[in-house]
Amino acid sequence: MYSKTLTAFTMATQLLARALAQDWESAYSKAQSALGRLTLSDKVGIVTGVGWNPGGECVGNTHPVGSIGYPSLCLQDGPLGVRYASSITAFTPGVQAASTWDLDLIRQRGQYIGEEFRGTGAHVMLGPVAGGLGKIAEGGRNWEGFSPDPYLTGIMVAETIDAVQGVGVQTAVKHYILNEQELNRETMSSNPDNRTTHELYLWPYVDAIHAESSSVMCSYNKIHGVWACESDFAINTLLKDRLGFKGYVMTDWAAQHSTALSANAGLDMTMPGSNWDGGDVYWGPQLQTAVTNGQVPESRVDDMVTRILAAWYRLGQDSDYPSVNFDADVAGNHAENVRACARDGTVLLRNEDGILPLTNPSTIAVIGSSSVIGRHARNQCQDGGCNDGALGMGWGSGAVDYPYFVAPYDAIDERASAEGARVVLSSSDNTASGASAARGADVAVVFITADSGEGYLEVEGNRGDRNNLDPWHGGNALVEAVANANENVIVVVHSVGPIILESILSHDSVKGIVWAGLPSQESGNALVDILWGDANPSGKLVYTIAKQRGDYGTQVVSGNDDYDEGLYIDYRHFDNAGIEPRYEFGFGLSYTTFEYGNITIEAVRPIAPGSATGEVISGGPSGLFEDVATVSVPITNTGEVDGAEVAQLYLSYPPSAPATPPLQLRGFDKVRLAAGESGTATFTLRWRDLSYWDTASDTWVVPSGSFGISVGASSRDIKQEGTIEV
Ligand code: BGC
Repeated sequence: MYSKTLTAFTMATQLLARALAQDWESAYSKAQSALGRLTLSDKVGIVTGVGWNPGGECVGNTHPVGSIGYPSLCLQDGPLGVRYASSITAFTPGVQAASTWDLDLIRQRGQYIGEEFRGTGAHVMLGPVAGGLGKIAEGGRNWEGFSPDPYLTGIMVAETIDAVQGVGVQTAVKHYILNEQELNRETMSSNPDNRTTHELYLWPYVDAIHAESSSVMCSYNKIHGVWACESDFAINTLLKDRLGFKGYVMTDWAAQHSTALSANAGLDMTMPGSNWDGGDVYWGPQLQTAVTNGQVPESRVDDMVTRILAAWYRLGQDSDYPSVNFDADVAGNHAENVRACARDGTVLLRNEDGILPLTNPSTIAVIGSSSVIGRHARNQCQDGGCNDGALGMGWGSGAVDYPYFVAPYDAIDERASAEGARVVLSSSDNTASGASAARGADVAVVFITADSGEGYLEVEGNRGDRNNLDPWHGGNALVEAVANANENVIVVVHSVGPIILESILSHDSVKGIVWAGLPSQESGNALVDILWGDANPSGKLVYTIAKQRGDYGTQVVSGNDDYDEGLYIDYRHFDNAGIEPRYEFGFGLSYTTFEYGNITIEAVRPIAPGSATGEVISGGPSGLFEDVATVSVPITNTGEVDGAEVAQLYLSYPPSAPATPPLQLRGFDKVRLAAGESGTATFTLRWRDLSYWDTASDTWVVPSGSFGISVGASSRDIKQEGTIEV
């Protein structure tokens, strides 16, 4: 009953928002007529923030303009829920949601996040993250985004934007662009070549703009020596001209460095003021002066304001938008989505001798400091910036306060007692007590973690980026001690990204590895679902787990970054360099087995080689987004239990294309199948999926020749192959 009422509420909010939402054209014409009633000082007020948290709530705010009924816009972090609010949901981080490969869950997550922003009166959600893509495994904020694969990230970013904006909340997709590490993020320059920029780092922004994100947040770093927030190339040329972006570009917080230069490069809003405390260092009166003395044309300020007002009108925020109230209870039944993403994003990496699901153990040892609740989960640390106890998300502006936290030990203990089993707990990382708890237990479950976050906080010597890819708190030694004391060990990993597992895998008694990722507030509940087999694991890795750190070929740099690895990041690099990963991109086990049948490839329309055609719509030339082929593969659940398979499609380019990674993800489909049931995985290829960025013509080009289509259970477990001729 409770959940039915909320569903009705959800539907009503959506219908309302959809009814109010308008196309850009009518929103622009409303904005233009409002513009006529504004003074220059009103206009400057709309584009300049008034500081961080002036009312104790939103991290970004602008001047209201009474004459047109425009409020002080409330901008708030962040990608996984409403920051600094109390009765909210701490959704799973992007990387966890992505590991489900489940677009229904991603969409629902976006919608619920949107409802919570709307319910607290925040107009703009500062997210989702389309990049930092995560080219460096240690990158501190990778977990806020989805995956180092641009295709996967692009799809998830678009679904999220569509869902959040579907309930009338603006998105500010971030951090544009090439902000891949925390070290020196506010001083360094990222210098990739043009093709790499387009095919990897711009790719998900194309999806974001195509999904009509209201805003884009420019990043702290420089691009080829020019600040991202005053880069004419990044903002005017790429975003506004080539991608046809109709919304507005805002700075990351205090990422502005000039008055006229940034304005003329296409920047539309400065946050949180033009510096941290809302002082008007660059805009505010300075912008007004720059207009008066002719350094910035007034038409440019008009364009900024038109874009900002149009985004606000387009989502119907001018009508009955709730006022800001961060105490509003907006959580509803949204925890169901958290539990589902935590559960279905859990990746089973090892399962020997059928150790999982558990079969009526009478004693279970639970070991490790991260099995129990810590200070972060009790909200005793700023932005999650401490790291004891269970890990549910990383730290920084992308973290929210937990409304509650179900720790693994508590959920296991409850479930075990219901089954008549006894739990022995060692709640520290002390090897001797871990071994002693494990001795004599039927099964020992050891918890290890690795954490990272935003660089303004240092946690245990890690200033945002991780210092290495090892488990924290002596995780390897703890597992070794337990593995020497018990023959049936399951290691549960809560981590922001890959860790090196070689030491752990060397112990024969480690029979299970459960990659539980970042499960947020529903950690223990989701884990119990998997351990006892109430749910069949169906998550797959959204990054590669290497055998050794050096295998990744990218690292945090101390100066500028020339992106020498080019297109070869994550699995693209492992495949190209012939390096065997420990667990490849797309890998994940199940409690059942799946069989793939014969591939069918059907052309939707003839594909001619050459440059993208069509007028520029949101995202680029319209031809980019046309469907060109469908691929389908029957899949049968051949095991004893119900399950879900994430089938993946990888594309190989014909020899006429310039050197390209051997395989690139271009489709995925999560197929749920009861035991014995058959279904079909289907993939739709768009024109852009077959294209590469041609630097000579500065266009997306589809080369001629034979494209390889590989469909499989992971990037290295290809089951079916075919070709598309162009
Ligand atoms: C972060 C942004 C965030 C902003 C406001 C910055 O430090 O990079 O992601 O939205 O702060 O909190």
